[in-house]
Amino acid sequence: MSNTPNSLPDLNTCKVAIMGLGYVGLPLAVSFSNTKKSVLTQEKLERTVFGFDINKKRINQLKNGFDKTNEISEKDLLILRNLYFTDKPSDLFEADVFIITVPTPIDKFKKPDLSSLKKVSQLVGNLIKSRTKKSYPVIVYESTVYPGATEEVCVPIIESESNLKYNEDFFVGYSPERINPGDKKHRLESITKVTSGSDISSALWIDSFYGSIIKAGTYKAPSIKVAEAAKVIENTQRDLNIALVNELAFIFNKLGISSYEVLKAACTKWNFLDFKPGLVGGHCIGIDPYYLTYKAESLGYYPKVVLAGREINDNVSKWVVEQMVINLVKKKIPIEGTEVLILGFSFKENCNDFRNTKVIDIIENARSYGINPIIVDPIVDKEDAFIEYGINILKKIPSDRNFKAIIVAVAHKQFLLLKKSDWELIKSTNSVILDIKNILPEEIEAIRL
Ligand SMILES: NC(=O)c1ccc[n+]([C@@H]2O[C@H](COP(=O)([O-])OP(=O)(O)OC[C@H]3O[C@@H](n4cnc5c(N)ncnc54)[C@H](O)[C@@H]3O)[C@@H](O)[C@H]2O)c1
Repeated sequence: MSNTPNSLPDLNTCKVAIMGLGYVGLPLAVSFSNTKKSVLTQEKLERTVFGFDINKKRINQLKNGFDKTNEISEKDLLILRNLYFTDKPSDLFEADVFIITVPTPIDKFKKPDLSSLKKVSQLVGNLIKSRTKKSYPVIVYESTVYPGATEEVCVPIIESESNLKYNEDFFVGYSPERINPGDKKHRLESITKVTSGSDISSALWIDSFYGSIIKAGTYKAPSIKVAEAAKVIENTQRDLNIALVNELAFIFNKLGISSYEVLKAACTKWNFLDFKPGLVGGHCIGIDPYYLTYKAESLGYYPKVVLAGREINDNVSKWVVEQMVINLVKKKIPIEGTEVLILGFSFKENCNDFRNTKVIDIIENARSYGINPIIVDPIVDKEDAFIEYGINILKKIPSDRNFKAIIVAVAHKQFLLLKKSDWELIKSTNSVILDIKNILPEEIEAIRL
C-alpha cells in the first residue's frame, strides 16, 4: 500500500495541466508558470505547467510565439520557462492538478453542449487511473456550466474512467473565469476569483492554489454548485440589463427621441445603471443564460424574465435591418441590389473574437431583402471568418465609391477615429445610416439605437 495517496499535492511544486488553451486557458497557464513567488505566502513557487489542447495548429502557433486570441504577446510567450505546450495526453501523466478550460457552447436548439467537457473529463479520468504519486489528484473546472453540472455530469465520468472514488481518491473544484477578452485593464490576476472544492480541505487547497497567483484575492464559495451558479448569473444579469435598454431603445425610436439622450439624462440619478443598447453576441453573455434556463426547466421551473431578455437581445439584429429597409423605402432608395456598408464583424469592439457574433444575423437578414452587405473589420481574421461563415471581410472601407446604406455595428477604435469629413466621403448624399453604437458625429444624420 506504499502508493496509497495520503495528502493533497504540494502547493508550491505541483505539476499543473491546463486543459484547453483558449481565451481562458492560455492566460491561466502563463500566470501559473510565471508567478515565481506566491502572492499569498511569498513562498518560492517551482511549478511545472503543461498547456494541453487538442488543436495541433494552436499548439504549434503558441510554440512559435503566436497567440491568435491576442491575450499574450509574442515576447511574453517566447520567454516562458516552465510552461510546455502539448497536444499529447501522455505528457500529462502524473499531473497533480488539472484545470479544465474547454468550450461550453449551446447547440442549435439553444441547449447546453457539454461534449468537450465530457471528452476532457474522460481523458482526465484515464490519466489519473494509473497515477503513482502519493498525493491525491485535484481537478478544477473553469468552463461555464449550469449549477450542478460538475458533480452531476463530469464527476461520474471521471469515476467510471478511473475506477477511483470521488472525495476519497480524487478531489474536484469549480472556479469560474471572469476575464473579458480584449480588456487590458481587468486581467486574470486583477479580478477577484471565486473558488470552491468538493470537501473542506480540497476547497481550502484550491483557494490557496489560486490565491498564489491572484493579486485581487479569492472568494471561497461554500460549494461547487454555488460557485457554478454565481458565474452563470453574472452574465444573466448583464444580459437582462442590456435587454431592458434595448427594449427602451425600440420604444424611444417610436417616440422619435434618442435613447442615448434619455439614458444620459437618467444616468444623472445615483442608482440608475449605466447600460447601453446594442447587439449581444460572444460566447458568454448571449449563451450562459441558456445554461441556467435549461437547468431550471429540468427542475420544472420555466423562466420568464431571463428568456424574455434573451429574445429581445436576439432580435436586435432583425430590428436593425427592418429599420434600414423602412428608411430606404422612405427615401425612395431601391432595396434590391443596394450595397450596405457594415462596419465591424467581431462580437464587440477592439476584440477580434467573432464567436456567436450577431453581425452575421444582420448580414443574413439584409441578404434576405436582396441587400448586398459589404463588411469591413480591421481586426478579425479574414480567413477564419471565411472558413466559419463563408463571408468576405475587407480590412478597410472602400474608397472607390460611397454608400446609400451604412450600419455601424461595432465601435472599433479605427471607426471612432473617423471625422465628419470622412463620413461625408463614405456616405452618399441621400443615404440611410444606422448607428448602433452611437459613434457618428452629431451633425451626421443617422438612426441611433
Ligand atoms: N472567453 C471568455 O471571456 C470567457 C470568460 C469566462 C468564462 N469563459 C468560459 O470558459 C470556457 C472556455 O472559453 P474560451 O473562451 O477560453 O474558449 P476557446 O474556444 O477560446 O478555447 C477553448 C480551447 O479548448 C480546446 N479544446 C476543445 N476541446 C478540448 C478537449 N477535449 N481537450 C483539450 N482542449 C480542448 C479548443 O481547441 C480551444 O483551444 C467556456 O466554458 C467559456 O464559456 C470564457
